[in-house]
Amino acid sequence: SRHAARTITWVDAWEPAAGAERAVAAFRERFGAEPDGVWSAPGRVNLIGEHTDYNGGLCLPIDLPHRTYVALRRAQGEGSDATLVRLASAQEQGAGVWTSPLADVLPGRVQGWPSYAAGVAWALAGDGHVVGGFDAVVDSCVPYGAGLSSSAALECAVAVALDDVFGLGLAADDAGRARLAAACIRAENDIAGAPTGGMDQSSSLRARSGHALLLDCLDQSVRHVPFDLAAAGLALLVVDTRAEHALVDGQYAARRTACEAAAAQLGVGTLREITPDALPDALARLTDGDQPAEVTRRRVRHVVTEIARVQEFVALLDAGRVRDVGPLMDASHASLRDDYEVSAPELDRVVESARSAGALGARMTGGGFGGSAIALVEVGSIDAVAAAVARAFDEAGFTPPAFLVAEASAPAG
Ligand code: ADP
Ligand code: GAL
Repeated sequence: SRHAARTITWVDAWEPAAGAERAVAAFRERFGAEPDGVWSAPGRVNLIGEHTDYNGGLCLPIDLPHRTYVALRRAQGEGSDATLVRLASAQEQGAGVWTSPLADVLPGRVQGWPSYAAGVAWALAGDGHVVGGFDAVVDSCVPYGAGLSSSAALECAVAVALDDVFGLGLAADDAGRARLAAACIRAENDIAGAPTGGMDQSSSLRARSGHALLLDCLDQSVRHVPFDLAAAGLALLVVDTRAEHALVDGQYAARRTACEAAAAQLGVGTLREITPDALPDALARLTDGDQPAEVTRRRVRHVVTEIARVQEFVALLDAGRVRDVGPLMDASHASLRDDYEVSAPELDRVVESARSAGALGARMTGGGFGGSAIALVEVGSIDAVAAAVARAFDEAGFTPPAFLVAEASAPAG
């Protein structure tokens, strides 16, 4: 079994009933009462299509079996107490219970982890929904700050909880879930202050078990692409490098700004409008701006080629050729490393060592600068590839990584 390898850390997902029970027990302890219910939402891992979402492009995430659980009830008090938000998290024990009137949840006014949860209520209220105060306790097995979207899992779990207890009815169908996702994205952008592109929240709310989510970020339309690795004798190994990864940090925002500046120079709304055929001409037209044209050209080339790789990847899945997607994963990684410059030594090390140990393909996933990488492997070689990656980290003197096996799992509910 994979647990036999003693030096390797596996991050197992909780059984949903066990996760729910943990959140309820923590709620009772904090508030001395029963919650109205428990809701949960998954982290995600992106198969391909990185740094394309904020360019109106395509991406292809799956939901993880790892979920964030939220036990929640409507505020009990009368008058101003009815608008109080009270939050606690098992992952932020030291922080105690965070308390604020909902009216004080505004851009720039909430610091730290509560911004993700309270921000969702702010965004829903901004859409005209009648949302009041609430008490919530969070517990999660989604790796924290590992590029697997623990932040989106928190937002989306709170979103489906509020949807239910305030009777919004949005979680019932995909159109409503798209609106919940939009609210979660505004919570993250405007209250938490992270200028992310929306893939994570769309995945957590709109993907399906057994399927990858082909998300078109130009119009937010989706297609559910059957994704059954086990049937092909394969598995998706996820490696949390445990290297620093700070999204609110300037690098992510700088990439986004560079793409928007390039689109403006080219006279298009988003880089999605540049087709691979038109790429050489577009690159030739880019001139020096905040950064040299040479750098901007590489950024644009990543985005345009990455969107094309998503289309090729999906075409292979549609043709039942999942075994052939490896080279697209490798090409995606090279493009993110060399053209987009968002990789990190730890991520490159995962990709190289996994490939040498027989992975069919490997790439960084998520925003980069640390976080996680994925490797497509034969089911029978999960242990061997993980051991090779762990050994390579040891040799490099890196912090030992953590591993999990991803299966396309259920969305928020
Ligand atoms: P990730 O890739 O995991 O989303 P981020 O750095 O974007 O990484 O988000 C991680 C942040 O989200 C945490 O630092 C914390 O503020 C918040 N967060 C995520 N999950 C939880 C949780 N279970 N409890 C409290 N805060 C959480
Ligand atoms: C994530 C971000 C997403 C997406 C991704 C890169 O961290 O939250 O919106 O841009 O990086 O593909």
